[in-house]
Amino acid sequence: MSEKYEKLELEPFFKTIDELKPKFIERLSKAIAIPSVSSDESLRPKVVEMAHFLVDELTNLGFHDIQLKELGIQPPPVTDKNLKLPPIVLGKFGSDPKKKNVLIYGHYDVQPALKEDGWSYDPFKLTVDEKNGILYGRGSTDDKGPVLGWLNVIEAHNKLGWELPVNLIVCFEGMEESGSLGLDELVAKEAKNYFKDVDQCTISDNYWLGTTKPVLTYGLRGCNYYQIIVKGPGADLHSGIFGGIISEPMTDLIKVMSQLVDSQGKILIPGIDEMVAPLTEKEDKLYDNIDFSVEELNAASGSDTALHQNKKDILKHRWRYPSLSLHGIEGAFSGAGAKTVIPSKVVGKFSIRTVPNIESKKLDSLVFDHINKLFKQLNSPNDFKVELIHDGNYWVSDPFNESFQAAAKATEDVWGIVPDFTREGGSIPITLTFEKELGVDVLLLPMGRGDDGAHSINEKLDISNYINGCKTLGGFLHYYGKSEN
Ligand code: BES
Ligand code: MN
Ligand code: MN
Repeated sequence: MSEKYEKLELEPFFKTIDELKPKFIERLSKAIAIPSVSSDESLRPKVVEMAHFLVDELTNLGFHDIQLKELGIQPPPVTDKNLKLPPIVLGKFGSDPKKKNVLIYGHYDVQPALKEDGWSYDPFKLTVDEKNGILYGRGSTDDKGPVLGWLNVIEAHNKLGWELPVNLIVCFEGMEESGSLGLDELVAKEAKNYFKDVDQCTISDNYWLGTTKPVLTYGLRGCNYYQIIVKGPGADLHSGIFGGIISEPMTDLIKVMSQLVDSQGKILIPGIDEMVAPLTEKEDKLYDNIDFSVEELNAASGSDTALHQNKKDILKHRWRYPSLSLHGIEGAFSGAGAKTVIPSKVVGKFSIRTVPNIESKKLDSLVFDHINKLFKQLNSPNDFKVELIHDGNYWVSDPFNESFQAAAKATEDVWGIVPDFTREGGSIPITLTFEKELGVDVLLLPMGRGDDGAHSINEKLDISNYINGCKTLGGFLHYYGKSEN
């Protein structure tokens, strides 16, 4: 598939990226030091600080028309009723009408991280392990490394005195880890304005499947995130005084949450499986050629707890079947030791990864009906409510379009190997919106590896992935800039 492009002479660019390595690590280190956790209301000022950091970087690199788009107040459920959503950072580099216009999306918010969770390093200080060539820190791979990767590409071009082969439009958001609230509306509003002439959209916010072979990604699952609120007594109570004589919210919640999914991963909510697109023979064959194994899954999970023992089943269950995960219970006693408390209000959180052809709204009503029915069966006097916190669509594209071909060529130049074409089990809510609202192809071009530990402790990005990732991103722009339509 990559024969179509003449090999480009990108060596000077690659060499410049290598020379700038210390500067690029320094740039990442500054970004990691800002704990821009979007789900933690108290850290919202840090998310905003991160937006300003990016604005400064874009300014110094020579971007124009840089804008911070405000998205208003965060909708409920939220504790602070006046909490402002973090701004979208927009910027443009180059405006040559003869060049293609590539939209780059990335997110500058990160998942929460505490040293106490089991990190071996301070999560918000970049730790450079020179010996093993690894950069540790929250956001290193998800998604600060890749976001800065694009800026590094421009810096290398500036240093070389090379023109960028395309015009770039960047769109960085600070709410991705919390469902991209407000971004859909902004994209729709700017489709004919800021994003007017966009020809293509590239997102670097996912990972290789394993640890050695690069991939290009043409699918994502969606994610609908729910919470169940059970409220009983007016305050937390002593179980010696009230145990056995009042109705306990935790008991109700556990009962309901235990009937959403079984230990084999089977979703127990009726009607969902029926919406899943049937597997065709053609699709089934695609899984044969992908480089992956149950051992790699075990290595990435740090355990021997896989639900499926062969590659194809694992990939299908990660990419093309839905899954339901229980995430946590707010308000429950969760400290060490034994506390004889009856929590007065508990909020159970779970999410469902969605796939073609699950309809989001229909899914919501199946979920609500099932849970309301379960709660009714409990005959409980407690207050009960189930609600959607956020939803984001699944996305599947054509891996044979120009974008993927250009990216395959760049990947081959940098890594010396033809990439695998993969889908992902994770979600990037805005992907389908860009495709639909702007009418363009979207490419997922990952930087990190499958064992980077996104969302986990000791999140990392290999230095080789950071540096070669920059080369791949830049190389892609060069090949794409030469493509025909
Ligand atoms: N970078 C991830 C998306 C991702 C996850 C890609 C796993 C490939 C594999 C992104 O930052 C993310 O974590 N998204 C959230 C979205 C959710 C809050 C709607 C996710 O998937 O949990
Ligand atoms: Mn991400
Ligand atoms: Mn993430």
